[in-house]
Amino acid sequence: MAGPILVFDSGVGGLSVVQALRRRLPEAALVYACDNAMLPYGHRGDAWLVQRIRVVCEAAVAASGCSALVVACNTASTLALDVLRECLSIPVVGTVPAIKPAARMSLTRHIGLLATSATVSRPYTLQLIEDFAADCRVTRVAADILVTEAERLVVGEPPDQATLRQALSPLWDDPELDTVVLGCTHFPLLGPWLVDAAPHQVAWVDSGDAIARRVAQVVPALAPRQGDEPSLVTARDVRLGRGLATFGFAAPRLLQLV
Ligand code: DGL
Repeated sequence: MAGPILVFDSGVGGLSVVQALRRRLPEAALVYACDNAMLPYGHRGDAWLVQRIRVVCEAAVAASGCSALVVACNTASTLALDVLRECLSIPVVGTVPAIKPAARMSLTRHIGLLATSATVSRPYTLQLIEDFAADCRVTRVAADILVTEAERLVVGEPPDQATLRQALSPLWDDPELDTVVLGCTHFPLLGPWLVDAAPHQVAWVDSGDAIARRVAQVVPALAPRQGDEPSLVTARDVRLGRGLATFGFAAPRLLQLV
């Protein structure tokens, strides 16, 4: 029998991928899981993270009975996709920075990558740049503070516009830069605020729709969506529960890790 699609992130960032999945597959049942006890992932060591992501994803897959796992986190995907595919027997769809579409779109051949400090310097990311944007200048900007701002937004606090402006400022040294990759799933949640904080118009590119398309390809049978959908967390947080409810998720259950 077909199970739901499990969407996993360190925190609320995967909700931007949930939005993309619901646009493309509105009838599909979803489960949301986040490792909020260990958020943010962006500063953590690689070996620790690989082990943690494996343990949390294995537990969430078992608890949800899902048919596919979407790793809705660039920081996790650029590090742990191979390990997850080895230890899980269901399709695993990852999230990687949208360098390829951004390089296709850029007219000036100068693009920005806005992501966590881990993602901007991962070998996986550098390889993507070499493979798909070799003829572009790519300005990589670590903006971990935007993870905090997106977390605040989902629990009902408006983002701090001065913080956003400061986080984005290294992108604007060259006025020719015309395309910005949102290489962290938290950042699309801040979309209108990012547009406001930019000094001129640029194209903002994220991976949400590409992930939804990939899920539609690799998941043969989708379980139908019914009412509020389950969510799983690694630490109790009443405010997060209220935030998840605004995205159509039921009160979170605490995930038991082994
Ligand atoms: N949402 C995650 C990503 O796409 C990262 C957030 C974190 O640092 O935990 O990279």
